[in-house]
Amino acid sequence: MRGLNVAVLGSAAGGGVPQWNCRCPVCTLVWAGDARVEARTQSSIAVSADGERWLLINASPDLRQQILATPLLHPSKGARHSPIEAVALTNADVDHLAGLLVLRERQPLTVFATGQTHDILSDNPVFDVLSRDVVKRSVMRLNEAIDTGFGLVIRPFAVPGKVALFMEQSDAVRIGDVTETTIGLEIAAHGKRLVYIPGCATVDASVRKEASGADLLLYDGTTYTDDEMPKLGLSEKTAHRMGHTPMTGIGGSLSAFDGLSIGQKAYIHINNTNPVLIDGSDECQAVQAAGWTITRDGMVFSL
Ligand code: MLT
Ligand code: MN
Ligand code: ZN
Repeated sequence: MRGLNVAVLGSAAGGGVPQWNCRCPVCTLVWAGDARVEARTQSSIAVSADGERWLLINASPDLRQQILATPLLHPSKGARHSPIEAVALTNADVDHLAGLLVLRERQPLTVFATGQTHDILSDNPVFDVLSRDVVKRSVMRLNEAIDTGFGLVIRPFAVPGKVALFMEQSDAVRIGDVTETTIGLEIAAHGKRLVYIPGCATVDASVRKEASGADLLLYDGTTYTDDEMPKLGLSEKTAHRMGHTPMTGIGGSLSAFDGLSIGQKAYIHINNTNPVLIDGSDECQAVQAAGWTITRDGMVFSL
């Protein structure tokens, strides 16, 4: 397993597929047991340079279920052990940090996040259940590479984003600010490069630059069209308003990386309303024809 190993623990956006209270067309198919749609947990990946020590990127509310489903992440040495050495957070959304609570029980690990995301954790005393004497909180500075000490080098970069939903004070939320609120991560090992961007409001020139030359790009696949949620009558919010890039339409991610040299492009953080989740749908076929993979839970990329 020497190489850059990437395990997709969860491929869905917040809420998962199906979402507990949702009867959108996609969720309705899953509730009915339709074989064309696979259930999915909320987005998270695990990355390793040796197949033994893993970095979790984002800790989803489904983390316990994801660990159970992934033998590589089971404890295998002594009375207490975990192959999970560290967790890196790309923002403070609930679907990215609630799983930290699953990692209690005094297991030594490091939590990497920007100063702003660490402040949100510090302001919520429930996260102190990760005892500070065993769980190290390490601040990532934008564009500064960090050697994790277990074969992976991670470098955070800011992408157009938005504050976490639970931090929104009013409807006058700023969308697309490029700050440490929302980051992408470059993970490098053995000369290979993964670029992970599960939430991003726009593919601008700097996002393209970060993605360029990646062996694997995992990108925000929240919705197919910008007005997907309003059209279904589920929410007034467009993808852009939620801080996400739609796949199609003006600025759509499907073609936004065209012309760049990228080994593999795959969508992750796919919302349950997104019709690409239905195998064989027109939208699924269009995305695949454009050279994108639609991730599923349990998918592994070996770079
Ligand atoms: C998002 O990606 O927009 C968030 O996960 C929304 C949420 O917190 O439910
Ligand atoms: Mn999310
Ligand atoms: Zn749904």
